[in-house]
Amino acid sequence: MEDLTPNPKDLDPIETASRDEIEALQFHRMKRSLKHAFENSPFYRNQFIKADVHPEDLKTLKDIARFPFTVKQDLRDCYPFGMFAVPQSKLVRIHGSSGTTGKPTVVGYTQADIDHWANLIARSIRAAGGRPGDMLHNAYGYGLFTGGLGAHYGAERLGCTVVPMSGGMTERQVTLIHDFKPRIIMVTPSYMLSILDEFRRQGLDPRESSLQVGIFGAEPWTNAMRQEIEDAFDMHAVDIYGLSEVMGPGVAQECVETKDGLHIWEDHFYPEIIDPVTGEVLPDGQLGELVFTTLTKEGLPMVRYRTRDLTRLLPGTARSMRRIEKITGRSDDMIILRGVNVFPTQIEEQILKCRGLAPHFQIELTRSGRMDTMTVCVECAEDHAAADARAVSAKELAHHIKSVVGVSTRIEVRDPGAIARSEGKAKRVIDNRPKE
Ligand code: DLL
Repeated sequence: MEDLTPNPKDLDPIETASRDEIEALQFHRMKRSLKHAFENSPFYRNQFIKADVHPEDLKTLKDIARFPFTVKQDLRDCYPFGMFAVPQSKLVRIHGSSGTTGKPTVVGYTQADIDHWANLIARSIRAAGGRPGDMLHNAYGYGLFTGGLGAHYGAERLGCTVVPMSGGMTERQVTLIHDFKPRIIMVTPSYMLSILDEFRRQGLDPRESSLQVGIFGAEPWTNAMRQEIEDAFDMHAVDIYGLSEVMGPGVAQECVETKDGLHIWEDHFYPEIIDPVTGEVLPDGQLGELVFTTLTKEGLPMVRYRTRDLTRLLPGTARSMRRIEKITGRSDDMIILRGVNVFPTQIEEQILKCRGLAPHFQIELTRSGRMDTMTVCVECAEDHAAADARAVSAKELAHHIKSVVGVSTRIEVRDPGAIARSEGKAKRVIDNRPKE
């Protein structure tokens, strides 16, 4: 694969600034942002008063720990527009996160917010190895989901030619990739696997495709999956992270030259890692829940937003801004099985070790009596479909999961194509346990 390290002169100056410069900018912006939230959002004014803090109490960056957390329920309680810090007439766009139940959480952007977002996505695509003039196939869903339009505006900002495909119509995705010859694709990693299947179904060699860079995110995926996709397409696969409450995609991005975790664009977002149980701030390097304070958002400033995503903060490498390790999972997706914490990403890693299995899987949880059972439903590889080969694969996977993750599981090896495909975020866990 080609070395795609960007030319340092093409980077934004802040990407290579010193830590002191970054922190000085963060402090200046944090102070302004807290003041804006306090003065213009009745929600934050109340929160700050209840916690007996004032924006003036911020004397150093670390003082942010004195301010109260914001959680997803706050957005729900303020549905639809109660948390905004500008009048609705100043918002140029609304997005929402789908949510599994009931109403979506609503987020809004001023023109300045959209401009920052486009710049950060442009920066992210460049970090991934994209250049002005590249054709970019955007298969993130367009609509209320932030993936499609978020990526779209940033790709245009960088000067790419965008194919606004959205998710779905997999056959057409492959036809257009074959005919238009994009250099870059932006899509969820699980949907990329569906696109891979479709390449093969159409008799096309994915390694011969024009794609050189995939920018994958919106759901957890592992380094094992990176390897799988890179080998299948002979392309670079890098990780993009974000969430609608904080902005959308482009909060953090992995650099193609290092692929060692995602640099947080710290000039716009201040990260903390906390203990998810006590809320205490943890030192860099420790695993915990990621929390963000936005530094430039006007429409919906976020103060200490609890993402529920578990990761750790690491020092900068390819850029001076700090990195997060690939997300292990969301605390909501954590399965507690007979006292052991299990994340779908851990199961994914073990599946990818088994040659007889394809990386399409779902985890089913059931309960009989007081006993919870976890069944991993996974597809066999096309060339390992015979009954005896499946039995060997099932045994191998159960063994890996038992020895690495530490739990006993039932394994069901299904036919190729038997696991429901996602056109966006994959649904990994089906919880059939009775509600308590
Ligand atoms: O998923 C924004 C996005 C779109 C990011 C496209 C990247 C690419 P939400 O729908 O609000 O926004 O979901 C946010 O998705 O809190 C994580 O749990 C998960 N997530 C997003 N990116 C990653 C990633 C978009 N790279 C939630 N790795 C977040 C792991 C991710 N999880």
